[in-house]
Amino acid sequence: MKRTLMGIILLNSILFASNNEAKLGEMLFFDPNLSKNRTQSCATCHNPNHGFIDDRENGINKMVSLGDGGKSLGDRNAPTAAYASFSPHFFYDTKKKLYKGGQFWDGREKDLKGQAGGPPLNPIEMGMADKKSVVARLKENKNYLEIFKKLYGKNIFKNDNKAYQAMTQAIAAFETTKEFAPFDSKYDRYLKGEYEMTSQEELGKALFFSNNNTNCATCHLLKGEDKEGETFTNYEYHNIGVPKNKVLEEKGIVKKSFKDIGLSKNRLAQYKENEGKFKVPTLRNIAITAPYMHNGVFQDLRTVIAFYDKFNNPQRIDNPETNQPWDEAEIEHSINHKDLKMKKLNDQKIDAIVAFLKTLTDKRYEHLLK
Ligand code: HEC
Ligand code: HEC
Repeated sequence: MKRTLMGIILLNSILFASNNEAKLGEMLFFDPNLSKNRTQSCATCHNPNHGFIDDRENGINKMVSLGDGGKSLGDRNAPTAAYASFSPHFFYDTKKKLYKGGQFWDGREKDLKGQAGGPPLNPIEMGMADKKSVVARLKENKNYLEIFKKLYGKNIFKNDNKAYQAMTQAIAAFETTKEFAPFDSKYDRYLKGEYEMTSQEELGKALFFSNNNTNCATCHLLKGEDKEGETFTNYEYHNIGVPKNKVLEEKGIVKKSFKDIGLSKNRLAQYKENEGKFKVPTLRNIAITAPYMHNGVFQDLRTVIAFYDKFNNPQRIDNPETNQPWDEAEIEHSINHKDLKMKKLNDQKIDAIVAFLKTLTDKRYEHLLK
């Protein structure tokens, strides 16, 4: 009797702690005091009201993000932080002979904890000088002082490294909550028998999952067709021949000579064969998270599908956004031509795939669909 009671008390206190850690993480995620000029929090570039992306109007169609200084811009598009917790720790799959998982477009942080430590100290993001000065900002807040000590021990602020680590752990705990991964889109409701797809959505679904037709599911599928909890990425790295974003070059945000070498920037994967490979992104909420690709080069979801089709369809000559022929790939030598080989699509099929992708929108964002 006594034992079970102890067990219940112990279980409750564990639940209490993990709950509160996520709550602390939530406070931190929204706290602009973690940036130098106190203007920017994680939520600034990962807005929970808009699919956890950077939806601020910034003069360049949201292709890349403005940092805390108000001037500096990065060179990559902010991916959604939603569903990010499902990416496995970065590792080399010895059977398939390729890299998988991790956080960022190049997997350079192995997990969410590591990831969360990056932005505060990134000079073109939150711009803090060092861990010590971030921890000093934490100490300004009486609530933090109390909660950190309760969760991580009363000596937690005696060591800046440990306090900083605790902060990243709390943020990661928040990012692992249901808030970030509700799995309640039309597609999920369809799997539960609560939503009936239109015939166009059905066609798009069939095309998406058919490796004889599109091959999308070779890369954008983890568990399998009609399996619950699908994140629509296998977390591998591939070069699909995305062109350089010329707007970033014209505006002087990146140099003319700039090439984003992707995975080979990751210190664990610095090989030439990895140049131009990027992590396969989730397709959850994809219809509301434009612009697309690691450099935000495409504004419209339909363009992305047309882009895949141009590898196989000689009639798909022009990029519909520029009315000019598609630009060449930023990095040519590592393009995965094998997996990009698909049956050619007509406009009706492209529209159907777009309609299917729209069903991957979480319920809370459905009002944002055009
Ligand atoms: C100035 C805008 C900005 C701020 C502020 C910012 N991020 Fe990001 N975030 C980005 C960009 C850009 C990337 C992609 C960078 C890359 O891949 O090199 C990214 C990537 C990520 C990813 C990786 C997602 C994936 O699928 O790989 C996560 C998770 C994330 N950020 C969470 C956070 C957290 C937590 C904070 C606060 C501690 C934060 N971000 C602050 C812009 C921002
Ligand atoms: C060889 C693997 C592969 C195949 C096959 C593939 N994709 Fe992708 N997909 C990727 C990678 C990698 C990226 C990111 C590329 C980059 O940014 O450079 C991507 C990006 C995307 C994006 C933009 C995501 C974002 O957040 O910006 C969409 C949408 C998309 N793919 C849909 C599809 C559809 C639909 C198909 C089938 C017609 C498909 N993909 C086939 C690997 C693949």
